[in-house]
Amino acid sequence: LSVVEVDLASIDVGQRVSVMWQSRPVFIVRRGPEQIAMARADDDNPRLIDPAADAERIARPEWLIVVGVCTHLGCIPLGQRAGDPRGTYGGWFCPCHGSLYDISGRVRRGPAPRNLDVPPYIFLDDTTVRIG
Ligand code: FES
Repeated sequence: LSVVEVDLASIDVGQRVSVMWQSRPVFIVRRGPEQIAMARADDDNPRLIDPAADAERIARPEWLIVVGVCTHLGCIPLGQRAGDPRGTYGGWFCPCHGSLYDISGRVRRGPAPRNLDVPPYIFLDDTTVRIG
């Protein structure tokens, strides 16, 4: 589908869901205060591979919405849990070649060259987002 509407009402704080949009997964994360703070704390980190402020990548701080396709060669990254020995960025790990993404979808370890893409989306109301 070129456009998909997602009901966010049942997504808890900290929860991640995936929806399909244009044959690609889109990751939606309802971020809690700690995750938002973690994302923003790295806005000026000189080690960012593809520098971007968290606020440039989201419409509402609570909701991170990114295309779930690794920007290296297109594998689907897996969600990372706190304490993951591969890194502590709280985002995703790509199982193909080891790229790591943070909780803003920014690449923190290559070989991926770019952050996860942000799809076009708008909030129709507090609990409905339209992607596409
Ligand atoms: Fe993700 Fe290569 S496809 S690291």
